[in-house]
Amino acid sequence: MVLNGRRILSNVISSQDDLHRRFGGVVPEIASRRHLEMINPIIDEALARAGVALTELEAIGVSYGPGLVGSLLVGVSTAKALAYALDVPLMAVNHLEGHIYANFLTGVVIVFPLLCLVVSGGHTSLIYMQNHGELTVLGRTRDDAAGEVFDKVARALSLGFPGGPAIAKLAQGGDAVAFSFPRALMGEEWQMDFSFSGLKTAVLNSIRREKEQGRQVKLEDLCASFQAAVVDVLVEKTALAARRYAVRQLLLAGGVAANSELRRSMFCRMEEEGVEVIVPPPQLCTDNGAMIGAAAYFALRRGRLAEPTLNAVANLMIDGA
Ligand code: KG4
Ligand code: ZN
Repeated sequence: MVLNGRRILSNVISSQDDLHRRFGGVVPEIASRRHLEMINPIIDEALARAGVALTELEAIGVSYGPGLVGSLLVGVSTAKALAYALDVPLMAVNHLEGHIYANFLTGVVIVFPLLCLVVSGGHTSLIYMQNHGELTVLGRTRDDAAGEVFDKVARALSLGFPGGPAIAKLAQGGDAVAFSFPRALMGEEWQMDFSFSGLKTAVLNSIRREKEQGRQVKLEDLCASFQAAVVDVLVEKTALAARRYAVRQLLLAGGVAANSELRRSMFCRMEEEGVEVIVPPPQLCTDNGAMIGAAAYFALRRGRLAEPTLNAVANLMIDGA
């Protein structure tokens, strides 16, 4: 629950990680069933923690895509029913835009135009944001998302799900130059797209090679070298875009923005470029309701109300492209 798009009154998160862990990834059917079970108790708890009555709500925001359609539908149907019953405006929020708006909950003054790097389990996108609701995608991943490769490498190493935090932890004690992994598209100055599938294959091949040669995989070194390859590409492409579009601020967003090496490296590099980096605290980087509330508030201010016929859109784009 969010006040004026900037203050969190409550942010109750029902994580399903434990449920999906033994499958090594999110199982769509299990995810939507769990959403259905949890949505009403979560709404009750959010109201209770905020000390707000249902009838005091002034608007309802909901993420309607991109994502798994079953899970999105649970949220969309509930939000529509609530907005109708309470007779308040309904706002439809793009999930990626939601990640970006987590930055508005940090208290830092945000000035447009700016650059956003959204790095999550499903997306890796560099976005130029001219104003609220005016977003242009400059580059995106051509294959795997950054978080997705963290998860896939972790799976190959039996590190559990989600893989990002486990790899980041092991990487702390490792040598980032022990393995030399590819940095795709990095030398191509005009290119703001990303590609991580080659890196994933290279890491998986290294794991196989070490095993074949009867060597123990040095987990720390492998994780540190892999993480460095992801971070290098993300930071370099962001620096390129920052220079080309002459922005003064960068908003980091999405689950992978919780990665401390990415944060450190991005702060360092952007300082050289004279760009201020804004990044939400880790618990606001991964999926949460407050970020959707913040985005909904700014949509409401622009009068962008959703139709009562709103539907979930699994492959929703951020810039209508
Ligand atoms: O944004 P998010 O919570 O969900 C999506 O919308 O996808 O992002 C989840 C992703 C997972 O792939 C997870 O492995 C990754 O974010 N992640 C991290 C870290 N924490 C979460 N990746 C790298 N380092 C982390 N510390
Ligand atoms: Zn997300």
